[in-house]
Amino acid sequence: MSAFWSAWIIVITLAVILGCAWLLFATRKSQPHQETTEETLGHAFDGIEEYDNPLPKWWFQLFVGTVIFGLVYLVAYPGLGSFPGVLGWTSTGQWETEMQHAEENYAPVFAKYAALSVEELQKDENAAGLKMGQRMFANNCSVCHGTSATGAHGFPNLTDNDWLYGGAPDAIKHTIAEGRIGGMPPWGAVLGEDGVRDMANYVLALSGKAVDSESVARAKPQFQALCTACHSADGTGLQALGAPNLTDDIWLYGGTFEKVAHTIRNGRNGVMPAHKALLSDDKIHLITAYVYSLSDK
Ligand code: HEC
Ligand code: HEC
Repeated sequence: MSAFWSAWIIVITLAVILGCAWLLFATRKSQPHQETTEETLGHAFDGIEEYDNPLPKWWFQLFVGTVIFGLVYLVAYPGLGSFPGVLGWTSTGQWETEMQHAEENYAPVFAKYAALSVEELQKDENAAGLKMGQRMFANNCSVCHGTSATGAHGFPNLTDNDWLYGGAPDAIKHTIAEGRIGGMPPWGAVLGEDGVRDMANYVLALSGKAVDSESVARAKPQFQALCTACHSADGTGLQALGAPNLTDDIWLYGGTFEKVAHTIRNGRNGVMPAHKALLSDDKIHLITAYVYSLSDK
């Protein structure tokens, strides 16, 4: 906030508070009677008449009290423009202290499960560790992978046995902690539009879809030249690169002719964000155990 706006807010805030105080005392002084009287203002409604009396003392003092409270509060806490308040309180500071308390309370619970391997956690009778993993998954992962982890267009299904980067506990943990970036280059410029359509036919043929066999024959040498470095010679993919298996009819970006052609023409770059800065090792361990439990081994 610039100094001007800070000063602007300070002036307005103080003017309002002092204005209220002035109003309070000014109306009190202008009262003709300082004591309770039987005199009325002459209004009557439904038989109720308005007396011409000053505010009860306790009420007046309550108003004075709120004005003083307001001023003391604004000295102690942030509120007056960019003045931070003499107590040094900040919402971030409070959040950090609360997080620290939570960390101290829950760390021993997480540490207990950290001592068990991902496989051992699967066998845990009441699955308490997996349930904690599930709750953390709901908070951190479901926006992209869905509450039941079945994924969506561009976000992989984590409940099937088809893995871009591998489904062993270590691979899953690495994915969560370090993140992953899928690098499927665009081929539109290299293949031309006809080439893209031939190649889409070839890719669909890999998972046994009925397609135009002439296109498939034309694309075959190009697939061998351009695609096998990542998707492997038989098209089953390479987990080290996150290159999907193209033969299983499970699609990250859709398996219709148009969608496959779009992928080949424009490329794809799915990003799985790294979570190690957001989640402790022990939490990642429990989420890994939960994700691992979703697909049958
Ligand atoms: C911002 C969206 C987003 C969030 C949040 C997110 N993911 Fe992902 N995740 C992705 C995308 C996109 C991919 C696929 C990356 C690619 O295409 O290469 C992915 C990939 C994965 C994979 C690899 C799947 C495979 O087949 O190898 C796992 C496991 C995974 N995520 C787990 C998680 C977990 C657990 C969390 C929560 C801690 C999480 N993700 C949070 C978007 C997200
Ligand atoms: C540099 C490595 C690399 C090369 C070369 C490559 N791909 Fe890919 N491809 C990938 C990666 C990685 C993905 C996953 C992208 C993602 O996760 O966002 C992918 C995804 C795809 C998909 C989407 C699969 C799905 O499940 O939706 C298709 C189709 C595909 N590639 C076809 C091809 C074809 C055809 C070629 C050759 C013309 C090719 N790729 C060349 C790495 C590569």
